[in-house]
Amino acid sequence: MIHRRELGKKLNKIIGRLDRIAQRRSNFDLRQVVRKRSSEVAEWRQTSSTIALPQVYGRDEDKKKVVEFLLSPSRSSESLSVYPIVGLGGLGKTTLVQMVYNDQQVGNHFDLKIWVCVSENFTRGSMLRSILKAMEVDKYESMDLDAMEKKVKELLQGKKYLLVLDDVWKRSQEMELGLTQHKWDELRTVLSCGSKGSSILVSTRDKHVATIMGTCQAHHLDRLSDDDCWSLFKLRAFGADREERAELVAIGKEIVRKCGGSPLAALALGGVMQSRSTEKEWLEVQKSELWSLPDENDIMPVLRLSYSSLTPTLKQCFAFCAIFPKDTEIKKQELIYLWMANGFISSRPNLEVEEVGHMVWNELYQKSFFQDGGSDVFLARFVSRCMI
Ligand SMILES: Nc1ncnc2c1ncn2[C@@H]1O[C@H](COP(=O)(O)OP(=O)(O)O)[C@@H](O)[C@H]1O
Ligand SMILES: [Mg+2]
Repeated sequence: MIHRRELGKKLNKIIGRLDRIAQRRSNFDLRQVVRKRSSEVAEWRQTSSTIALPQVYGRDEDKKKVVEFLLSPSRSSESLSVYPIVGLGGLGKTTLVQMVYNDQQVGNHFDLKIWVCVSENFTRGSMLRSILKAMEVDKYESMDLDAMEKKVKELLQGKKYLLVLDDVWKRSQEMELGLTQHKWDELRTVLSCGSKGSSILVSTRDKHVATIMGTCQAHHLDRLSDDDCWSLFKLRAFGADREERAELVAIGKEIVRKCGGSPLAALALGGVMQSRSTEKEWLEVQKSELWSLPDENDIMPVLRLSYSSLTPTLKQCFAFCAIFPKDTEIKKQELIYLWMANGFISSRPNLEVEEVGHMVWNELYQKSFFQDGGSDVFLARFVSRCMI
């Protein structure tokens, strides 16, 4: 009996302590959140400021306009200007911003340049963390919000900086951690400590993002001309050493017209044609029913077409990439291990399963389903998510 009574007392004490802890939690307004930190996991790097392309076609005018904006004297009287670049996915926003970011005049004009790939995660914490990471600050991971804010302010104080926020998404049902006016107002307060002339370039698919963030009219990225798309397409379709036979060129140009001026679609379709050598094979793609575009601006059918031409194994391996958050970079070797672990690929006579993985990967890469991120790190194109 005594034993029971003591146990009861102890239990009451514990319950009291738990109640006090719960009370303190509400006093401090601590809330339970499930934190998505996928884009900050070391292995999965984000898009960078480096251009991986051998050549960029047809964006000289756009680049000139953005550079002029950044360097224009009237900017130097404003404390923080935000210039949004808006366009469909795959149209070349990131590429354009990379060109501007790496321009020599731009480099000379600013004291400091910072590149942040935002993607789905626009929270105060993730933004501050990404900025500190981009600035190679030590031990930023162990800092709390307050300390991060102080550090960012300290680093930007009195500097004329250029900050790129690549691929910003607005908050929506699917994009819970996306941008809101309130979150932007909070962050802007922190970022306004730079010196006059500091600028932010924002790339986004969503004109609402431009309305929320922009301090001036957005730059709407136009479609690439058919000629430029053709140059891109043939780079993939014919490569360096395949003969550009007149009958294939004629069909190819027809195909390119259906790309809707999207460099991503031109590259993807060029990849599809790479393994086709006869006129009949090319005509099959040109005449495909998948082309019927419901809407002129919709390039998805084009990308679906390149997906539908994959073998079932390739389809499965590629579709699997949809599990990665948008714009995360994927290590080739890890992806191959994941395909193996999921049983998507198996060994063949004289080929180990891992070698089969490399073959699958190479084929997807040649067909433009992955984008090179340098040093064996790759980006699964947004197509995987949209198509499933
Ligand atoms: N002007 C261009 N010339 C050549 N390739 C381009 C051009 N613009 C984009 N690309 C290529 O097209 C693909 C999509 O471009 P990206 O800049 O990632 O588009 P976005 O950021 O608008 O989604 C990338 O593989 C990129 O290398
Ligand atoms: Mg982009």
